[in-house]
Amino acid sequence: MTFYVCFYSLLYKIMRFFYKVYFLNINNTFLKRNVSNELLTRNCKSFHCIPGPLSLPGIGTLYQYFPVIGQYRFDTLHLNGFKKYQKFGPVVREQIVPDVNILWLFDPSDIETMFRHEGKYPQRRSHLALEKYRLDRPNVYNSGGLLPTNGPEWFRIRSVLQKGLSSPQAVKRFLKGSDQIIQEWIEFIGQPPKKHRNDYLPEISRLFLELTGYSMLDIRLDSFSYHEHQKHSRTSRLIKAAYVTNSCILKTDNGPQLWRKFETPLYRKLRKSQEYMEDVAIDLLSLKMSLFKERDKYTPLTLLETYLSSPELDFKDIIGVICDFLLAGIDTVSVIIYHLEVWEVFGLARFTRQNCV
Ligand code: HEM
Repeated sequence: MTFYVCFYSLLYKIMRFFYKVYFLNINNTFLKRNVSNELLTRNCKSFHCIPGPLSLPGIGTLYQYFPVIGQYRFDTLHLNGFKKYQKFGPVVREQIVPDVNILWLFDPSDIETMFRHEGKYPQRRSHLALEKYRLDRPNVYNSGGLLPTNGPEWFRIRSVLQKGLSSPQAVKRFLKGSDQIIQEWIEFIGQPPKKHRNDYLPEISRLFLELTGYSMLDIRLDSFSYHEHQKHSRTSRLIKAAYVTNSCILKTDNGPQLWRKFETPLYRKLRKSQEYMEDVAIDLLSLKMSLFKERDKYTPLTLLETYLSSPELDFKDIIGVICDFLLAGIDTVSVIIYHLEVWEVFGLARFTRQNCV
């Protein structure tokens, strides 16, 4: 089964079909440089005329995210977007905190226009606390990693790292191993569960952790075993670390960013999760590096070996990308599969329902 590799094209189609919401963080410089001229010459309204939720001095729209009194919630981005779309239309401006403007685009053609104007270095504004965590540790990381970094440094790492990932030849080498992992997972999921299962999300997370470990680290993490299902096992802790970090992102990105001044409880959670993920990444990479020297030179290089043999990357760059992949590879796909019921596509839904009754 070419599930994992084909997933990206499937995902693209799904996202084009379902994804009516996309939001962007933009700043005034970007607007002046990329949007104003073209839009203004077409008699478009100025940025400040775009409708959106009321932003108050000093606090922006944050009050609208407070529990009880607020109508939005940080952990339901899609519902926030839907409410804004219903109330304000396909383009919404939100000053979430002073000087931080979010432009919500709901029409795919607007999103396309936006992307076409990004130029060589797209400006993304996310994972800011993760960036701080990594930049505070120059002994471990060279940069904030792929997710938060922008500009020439992002371009440098991105150009090298994507070489082993995007070509059809690169994709081909993951097929056999991914297929085997998926077969093992299907067998595992078909066995009578030790405890009653009413939520399959944790098992889907295990599948994607295993696939990420295999494709990125060239290692089997044994995620489906009884031992690894225990609370304190490596895979259980990795899944938890990815989940906790991801759940801190929106709040640390869009709040008042007090974590820049002192260690807030939220930042502490992120730091601790990242420390665990980083320890695992360092251990596994060190192991792989020691084996790399003894490898048979006629065997094709794996993705990690491609990185290890690249003169443009060093140990710290590779640690960064391993952590990025672990962070981005577990929750993202699992949650989408779970919620969009892609289960149906793979014929597993009936099985799940029967077993849940
Ligand atoms: C349903 C699944 C996924 C969704 C919806 C998703 C979505 C996204 C989005 C929206 C971005 C930001 C793009 C930007 O800033 O312009 C991103 C970046 C990224 N994703 Fe994913 N992703 C998914 C799965 C994965 C998986 C499985 C991996 C790796 C194993 C991954 C690794 C990354 C990395 C490394 C970046 C940063 C790329 C860069 O900035 O150059 N993602 N993803």
